Amino acid sequence: MSKLSNLSLFCTLFSLIIFVASCDRNPDNIDIDDISALPETVEHPASNPFSVEKQELGRVLFYDPILSGAKDVSCATCHHPDFAYGDGRDLSSGVGGLGIGPSRSNGEIVKRNSPTLINTAFNGMEEDGDYDPESAPMFWDNRSDGLEEQAIEPILSSEEMRGDGIAEEAIVDTVLERLASIPAYRALFADAFGSETITETRLAQALATFQRGIISNNSRFDQYMRGNLDALNNQELQGMNAFIRVGCSECHSGAMFSDFEFHTLSVPDHPFVDDSGATENFDFRTPTLRNVALTAPYMHNGAFDDLEDVLEFYDDISGNNGDSQNGQVADNEIDEEARELNLNGRQINDIIVFLEALTDEGFDKAIPSSVPSGLEVGGNIN
Ligand code: HEC
Ligand code: HEC
Repeated sequence: MSKLSNLSLFCTLFSLIIFVASCDRNPDNIDIDDISALPETVEHPASNPFSVEKQELGRVLFYDPILSGAKDVSCATCHHPDFAYGDGRDLSSGVGGLGIGPSRSNGEIVKRNSPTLINTAFNGMEEDGDYDPESAPMFWDNRSDGLEEQAIEPILSSEEMRGDGIAEEAIVDTVLERLASIPAYRALFADAFGSETITETRLAQALATFQRGIISNNSRFDQYMRGNLDALNNQELQGMNAFIRVGCSECHSGAMFSDFEFHTLSVPDHPFVDDSGATENFDFRTPTLRNVALTAPYMHNGAFDDLEDVLEFYDDISGNNGDSQNGQVADNEIDEEARELNLNGRQINDIIVFLEALTDEGFDKAIPSSVPSGLEVGGNIN
């Protein structure tokens, strides 16, 4: 072979490689390392190992309004399985309210949207799958470390559970005394912890163990990632492709579809609430997108009713003509990764279809038929 034909063979091969590399419409060619399936099992912290007794004690505590000042609100008031362990409201409604979900009335308004508790066991998971259940970040501003630490916060909050009748310094002791006065609770704590003593730590550990069992890790997306290539249809694959290509997975990354970092997007303010976010920059933690089709309305304040509105918002803030949607955030204060998203109508539709494939309704939905206090299961929610 002459040198010339060697060179032309090289050129042909080289352009073929470039062509193949740029011919990336095929979902099979995209780099899907940014997102992944959830693990099939959950880790519990060494300081709070799993037991069925502890989980079931946690379940009745979760539904028992005895944990609230006026015995009217339980955790399930705002985190109910019928609403995918959120409450379907823009802002949550706590003390003094009646009913559940969007039709609940007269409750104290909490300044943020109730996030789903499904898969919070995996909060903080990194792209490589590492996570530490002991320090898993909680809340829209990551202000609590781990489900154990988080569990006492709603009991202290005057809007969520405490009310005005009992001081913040006194409420936990009041709740512990109430529990200790009920023989059935003493027996359940003995089964779970080896003795009847009811402490703040044990209360938090039981609630955390119950919540760590609320898992949903078998969406069609998970099945696809574990090797069942038929689990997602063509449009869903195009949507997955677009989700990664346009840059959604820069922030909604890993198996939880969250980097658990703060970002400023310029979500419009809620008319009732002034909320400048985690670091006063109108920044909030990236939420998980798992089961997102079940958890409307969206954002830290429920600003958007459906996924179309969320995607339109991203379209409005990004690209060459991107504008802030919040009067208190300048265009150039919006996170660069959000400004760089560049969406077209087709991609928006495909991404929504893909997000719907992140649903797995197989999470624990069991509601106890009664709670040891004899109060109404879930509080005043019926
Ligand atoms: C009145 C409504 C209400 C009640 C009652 C309530 N919560 Fe919440 N919960 C919320 C809201 C709103 C947030 C988000 C607050 C924030 O981020 O500042 C939240 C956040 C959480 C989170 C963080 C989830 C995450 O991914 O960051 C957990 C866990 C949680 N609640 C568990 C509980 C438990 C356990 C109880 C009962 C002891 C409870 N909640 C009672 C409304 C409520
Ligand atoms: C710069 C990081 C970033 C990028 C890029 C990004 N998001 Fe988000 N996403 C967030 C943050 C932060 C929030 C919460 C904002 C708030 O509540 O104020 C959010 C909220 C959401 C929600 C609402 C979820 C809920 O439960 O309330 C959806 C849905 C969503 N994003 C989808 C997407 C899609 C689709 C893309 C790509 C088009 C995308 N995101 C790109 C950071 C990002």
